Amino acid sequence: MKITIIGAGNMGGATALGLARYGKGISLTVTAAHERTLEKYKASGMEASLDNRSAAEGADLVILGVKPWIAGAILEEIRPALAGKVLCSMAAGIPDGDLLAMVEGSGVKAVYTVIPNLAIEVGESMTYVHRIRGDAETDALVMDLFDTVGKTRLADGKQLHAGMILASCGTAFAMRYFRAATEGGVQLGLYPKDALEAVLQTVKGAADLLEARGTHPEQEVDRVTTPGGITIRGLNAMEEAGFTNAVIRGLSL
Ligand SMILES: NC(=O)c1ccc[n+]([C@@H]2O[C@H](COP(=O)([O-])OP(=O)(O)OC[C@H]3O[C@@H](n4cnc5c(N)ncnc54)[C@H](OP(=O)(O)O)[C@@H]3O)[C@@H](O)[C@H]2O)c1
Repeated sequence: MKITIIGAGNMGGATALGLARYGKGISLTVTAAHERTLEKYKASGMEASLDNRSAAEGADLVILGVKPWIAGAILEEIRPALAGKVLCSMAAGIPDGDLLAMVEGSGVKAVYTVIPNLAIEVGESMTYVHRIRGDAETDALVMDLFDTVGKTRLADGKQLHAGMILASCGTAFAMRYFRAATEGGVQLGLYPKDALEAVLQTVKGAADLLEARGTHPEQEVDRVTTPGGITIRGLNAMEEAGFTNAVIRGLSL
């Protein structure tokens, strides 16, 4: 399958690198506004172009990775190339009707909003796929593609919004926890890189443990908290400082 990614920035670029590494049977073309953006993709063997329309013409599936406010102009530019193709827009927050209006009359075969997260680059994205126009066959095509670079969920509009905040913004939220825990580790006497190593391995291990055992997080908390011990004292101090409320408030804005 030939895939063109229009806009190889943070998200489009991470998607290109992830698909290049983990995708099967695909060839990739990326575009950007500036030649210097394309250099690293060319160096890793991808086709790269400043010409969005001709790049889209050669594709079976087009991924739109530009900022939402220029999506309309870019779709207008590539409109003649969209006939018979599957379009996956990563632009967040564009209502379904607006996106459909942008491609009306182009003959595009199917239209999706697809929201991955930055871990797509390392094959570990949590990706939400929202069908705007398409069928079971195009659903399967898009899901199979993004399944190669992480986990994928088909979502209605409400789930897409929730999933985007939890999983896409969630990457930034997780980074803040890593930073905070690392700073705490330094205060306890570890060098920053050693503290970060401990935080990352602990979080990975905790995630793997929950997945493997299928338990609720509080069940594992109960296994770690010795009565009167330092873990429960630490948890209670975090709650006193508003940990759970802060996380839920951050997710609910
Ligand atoms: N970042 C995330 O975690 C994330 C997650 C989910 C969805 N998204 C969505 O992904 C989209 C991109 O976000 P981002 O953070 O990746 O933005 P970004 O880093 O600014 O990337 C945008 C890319 O678009 C390119 N571009 C700009 N004008 C163009 C044009 N006329 N033709 C071709 N390419 C053009 C830019 O090229 P140059 O680099 O050469 O200027 C840049 O590479 C947004 O719509 C956002 O809502 C982002």
